[in-house]
Amino acid sequence: MQKIIITGGAGFIGSHVVRRFVKTYPNYNIINLDKLTYAGNLENLRDIENEPNYRFIKGDIVDLEFINSLFDNEKPDAVIHLAAESHVDRSISSPLEFVMTNVVGTVNLLNAARESWKGRYDQTRFYHVSTDEVYGTLGEDGMFTEETAYDPHSPYSASKASSDHFVRAYQDTYGMDVVISNCSNNYGSFHFPEKLIPLAINNIKQRKPVPVYGKGENIRDWLWVEDHARAIDVIFHNAKAGQTYNIGGHNEWKNIDLINLLCTILDKKLGREAGESAKLITYVTDRAGHDLRYAIDASKLKTELGWVPSITFEEGLEKTVDWYLANEEWLANVTSGNYQQYYKGQYNNR
Ligand code: NAD
Ligand code: DAU
Repeated sequence: MQKIIITGGAGFIGSHVVRRFVKTYPNYNIINLDKLTYAGNLENLRDIENEPNYRFIKGDIVDLEFINSLFDNEKPDAVIHLAAESHVDRSISSPLEFVMTNVVGTVNLLNAARESWKGRYDQTRFYHVSTDEVYGTLGEDGMFTEETAYDPHSPYSASKASSDHFVRAYQDTYGMDVVISNCSNNYGSFHFPEKLIPLAINNIKQRKPVPVYGKGENIRDWLWVEDHARAIDVIFHNAKAGQTYNIGGHNEWKNIDLINLLCTILDKKLGREAGESAKLITYVTDRAGHDLRYAIDASKLKTELGWVPSITFEEGLEKTVDWYLANEEWLANVTSGNYQQYYKGQYNNR
């Protein structure tokens, strides 16, 4: 019997983690703590919302009083922390929000856990979900390992790097049991369409321009979100205290090649002529400080804990496109309202 607070459980990756834990561990008590920002959506969890081992609590991790009383009332045994502002482009226009949620919010949780877990650090765990972006950018060769020095370039990655340092400091200073994982780019169902893959699928479907930053030569290492959720499960249950694991799909794609692949898949699925969707590709001004290449060496996770991705990128992308085509209502709901405003600002009305 364990009580686990999962923060950010109404977001993209968080909802997959919550679903996995609720379904796999009926004897655990799972609390989803989420502020429901523009990125949080309880529709992502409709299939498990009535499970007896699941509860949703709305709240802000930046609100210290709320977080302290949550720990007093619930007395959790563990935290799996995913709540964050997660979009690099938004961090360029509003850096302070990223400092508040990603840094101050994380320290609030650490403080509440430190107080609440005094005397039983060996029976509790703070699992911090982080990103490969803390390592900065790669040239043409090499991969990020757990030993790569931190070198963040965007306000988003700087805020995540800062939160990682705080988490490690709480292990070193107070002896808390902490674990961190740094994952590469995820894709899959429930991905908010401000990020490249769901935005491209949505635009191709609607015959809208597909914005590609710069020359489209930046490279990302894509992992199916359910494989990330499984990695978090494996690490949460098996990692030694203080450990860090990189998680990645060994699956590097140049943005332009990935967009062309999506165009080909959608031409077939939507009954369009070959090459029709690719005409939508539109090169736009590059992202400021755009990291060239990410690639994860996940061999530590494979060797020590036996995790490897379960499906190929082709299978995962096919599943993902099918999911977006079958879930038009979800897509219509999340792209109404504020999304329109954000989109116009980000892409200059294109
Ligand atoms: P997301 O933006 O889809 O979801 C974030 C969730 O956090 C939302 O439900 C939102 O409502 C919630 N939230 C935001 N601010 C909050 C606050 N102040 N208090 C409580 N809840 C708040 O993000 P995601 O893509 O699912 O990423 C989840 C985590 O995984 C983040 O920490 C991110 O840095 C990390 N990560 C993401 C990726 C990726 O490819 N998306 C890869 C590696 C790591
Ligand atoms: O690497 C892990 C990170 O991956 C996570 O920590 C972040 O939370 C997540 O958002 C993601 O960051 P990226 O910046 O890599 O993802 P995004 O989908 O925004 O962009 C992927 C690539 O596509 C990147 O090189 C920028 C480019 N891009 C993005 C958008 C939104 C475009 O060319 N056009 C676009 O419209």
